[in-house]
Parts: sequence; C-alpha cells; structure tokens
Amino acid sequence: MSKPRILIPRAIFPEIIEKLAAHFDVETNQADEAWSPAEFAKHLAGKQGVFTTGSERVDAALLAACPGLKICANMAVGFNNFDVAAMTAAGVLGTNAPGVLDETTADFGFALLMATARRISESEHWLRAGKWDRWRYDLFASPDVHGSTLGIIGMGRIGRGIAKRGAHGFGMRVIYHNRTQLDAATEAECKARYVSKEELLRTADHVVLVVPYSPQSHHTIGAAELALMKPTATLVNIARGGIVDDAALAQALRDKRIAAAGLDVFEGEPQVNPALLTVPNVVLTPHIASASIPTRMAMANLAADNLIGFLVHGKPLTPLNPEVIAKA
Ligand code: GLV
Repeated sequence: MSKPRILIPRAIFPEIIEKLAAHFDVETNQADEAWSPAEFAKHLAGKQGVFTTGSERVDAALLAACPGLKICANMAVGFNNFDVAAMTAAGVLGTNAPGVLDETTADFGFALLMATARRISESEHWLRAGKWDRWRYDLFASPDVHGSTLGIIGMGRIGRGIAKRGAHGFGMRVIYHNRTQLDAATEAECKARYVSKEELLRTADHVVLVVPYSPQSHHTIGAAELALMKPTATLVNIARGGIVDDAALAQALRDKRIAAAGLDVFEGEPQVNPALLTVPNVVLTPHIASASIPTRMAMANLAADNLIGFLVHGKPLTPLNPEVIAKA
C-alpha cells in the first residue's frame, strides 16, 4: 500500500523529517526557499497532510486548490494562520501544539519584561556606539521590577507561568485580566488578583500581554489604552501581532506616554512598523519566545505526532475541530 503524502513547507529538524518519513511519502523544503501562497498551494496539491509552522496561511482558497488534504498540523500553539471554519467546512482537520511551550515562553516573557524595564537593549546600543565615557548616578536609571505591580492580560498557561515567576521570584503584586476569572485555588497558586482591564492599565507598573489573537482581541492595546497607563509603566507583547496597535505604541513611546515596551510579535511580521525602529525605548525580538531548542523540538514532535496520529491511526492528539474526525 502506498504511504500517505505530506508536505513540510519550511526547514525543520532532520530528526522530524526522519520520523515522518517512516510513515509518509514526504516532500520537504529544507533549503527553506520562500514560497508565495501560490507556490505553497502548488506543492500542497495531491498531499493528504501538511506540517505548518504557524506562518503558512490555510484558507478557503488554499483548501479549494488542495481537495485531497485531510490535516494541517501547526507547530505552534497559536493558530490564527488557520481559517478553522473554512477547514471544518472542507472536512480538513487542524491541530496545534499546546502545553509544550508554556514554561519556555514564560521565561522569555519575563526576560523581555526585565530587558524592557531595566533598559538593557537601549543601554547596550549606547555602549556599543562608544558613548560611555564615565559613570553617572542616573545613567539609564529605570523603574524596579522586584516589588512592583505586574499586570497580565491573558491568564492561560503562559500567563500563569509569568505570574508565578513575578509573585514567587520577584515579590511582585500580580493583577490580571482575562475573559473569565480563574478559580480561587489557581489565583492563590499564582498569587494573582482579578481586576478590570481599565484598573489593570491604570495601576500596573509592568503590563504583559499573553492573549490569543482573534478579531475580538485585535488592538486590545491602542491609543486609548496606552493613555490609561502610568508614564513610568512598561508594556510587553509576547502574544501576537495585532493585539497591540503598533503605530499608536510607537507614538506613545516617542511621546514618553509610557516608559518603554518589549515586543516579540508585530502587526504584519516579519515587517516591523518603521516608526518602532526609530524609538530607543523599545526592545525588539523576532518572534522567538518559544525558541529554546528542547521546546522547539517538542513542538515539532507534537505536530509530527498529530500527523501520524490522524493519518495512520485516526487519532490526532490535539485537534482544533474534532468534529471533522468522525467524517474523515
Ligand atoms: C508561537 O507564537 C506559537 O503560537 O506557538
């Protein structure tokens, strides 16, 4: 019997290709050539599965061009690259990679908070530019992290990981806002208090965004929200581009409306709003919050296990639209 055919449209760990090749006829793009959506569709035609990385858009047009497709397995917990409704209508399963990146991403969120609040990037650029001639009492003086108020918007697994780091490691007062309030035991574990979004923005010294992207969460932070924040406050976005209005943020940073920001995700990435590149009080990283080697390997393994689980055994591990499984 011939093996199911799958596509891996981006470079990936060789071990993952080897694992998938034991079950599938695999087409890869290990050279990591940049494919247009039309080229992606051309390579995907005739395949039953695809290993997506979170960047490849799966929508009704792609699905119409690939009628034999059965599963798109995302190597990412976020899945805003998928039009899940269109996938369900076409009988195509989507899977994501939850649960394996939480601690690594929480580490990075906290690192970005520290770098932003303590002006690490800004002072390093200044030093590298040869501007350091002597010590000064207020050289890159900043707000404190320990003992301050940490506001987290989005209290899923990653948000809770950041809360614990702040509360238990840095003695921070943690407040949070979420679609639903956590149960009392989880709040106690995270030492976190539920507040309205407005109260959080008005009172937090450091705000971290960890909400999933959806049309409802688009521009969770825009000019009006930035105007509520303390002028000494910092903002960190490790969620998704589009959660923050990047143009409004650049303006607020330029006007010193808030002290600083740390961004790992951007509207329209890999493009970055040029205004953000010209303000000094922002730390910019290229969407790497989950990028520890063990975690990226775990994410890739989970995506591979979803392909094998579904196409070989009919049982995916982390389905997004399980209603299509029965129909497959
Ligand atoms: C990374 O951004 C992910 O969604 O896994």
